[in-house]
Amino acid sequence: MIVAETRAVLRDALGAVGRADAPMDDAVTLVPTMGALHDGHARLFDEAAAGPGRLVASIFVNPLQFGPGEDLARYPRTLESDLELCREHGVDVAFAPSFTEVYPGGEPLVTVEPGPVGSILEGASRPGHYRGVLTVVAKLFGLVRPDAAIFGQKDYQQLVLIRRMVDDLCMDIDIVGAETVREPDGLAISSRNRFLRHQERQAATSLSRALYAGRAAQADGPDAVLTAADKELAAELAVQVDYLQVRTPDLAEAGRAGSARLLVAAQVGATRLIDNIAVELLR
Ligand code: PAF
Repeated sequence: MIVAETRAVLRDALGAVGRADAPMDDAVTLVPTMGALHDGHARLFDEAAAGPGRLVASIFVNPLQFGPGEDLARYPRTLESDLELCREHGVDVAFAPSFTEVYPGGEPLVTVEPGPVGSILEGASRPGHYRGVLTVVAKLFGLVRPDAAIFGQKDYQQLVLIRRMVDDLCMDIDIVGAETVREPDGLAISSRNRFLRHQERQAATSLSRALYAGRAAQADGPDAVLTAADKELAAELAVQVDYLQVRTPDLAEAGRAGSARLLVAAQVGATRLIDNIAVELLR
């Protein structure tokens, strides 16, 4: 595995051949991450490594997507063990740049505006978050020039927005959404779970319990889904719900029937957790 800390080393690692001239098995798949890698990332790498071509993982904690008072300073930085996990899971190139390497001119003047979907749900509580995410993802796409990129469905809104950016800005990259990986008790695996204290860790399972309870009520329509999910969350005093919503798969207002997404965000102690699940509304 090549570890590239600079654009120049990344360029060399990917080869000088332009993508259009590259043979099929030279296709590049990118898995963008902020490090603190866990089993969820390992699953993404395994999925990508099982396909043809080369696998690039980026490891970069992007300050642009953290608002004031958010956890940028305490975000875990575990580069050595991250590189180890990359090696064990078939990554060919680990791109681990510094801030200056990604933002040589400092904070960019031109950024990617996420549009209306960027200011609902997570975006309503974290203004500017998705502008930061889309801007860095667009930069990573420009630097790596992947044919495909894989993102976890745990940040479902991020996945929807990246798909929309790629379509709207004609980026010609196949965006793959990978299933959320869960602990045996249902908690969605996240780099932030390590901040949960013992009792908070127990309480945090109410998010996935709420999603499953909501899905069990899907035949009775969106109100029943929300009521069932809310009951699970309300039973946990340590969990402060930020939002619990049913939306269409592309995050418009949900109707009474059809495919939909149930999404939740909550503060558990000092840690913000998100999760979501697909539901099929029947009336
Ligand atoms: O999901 C993440 O880890 C980040 O938002 C991403 C996509 C790597 C951009 O910094």
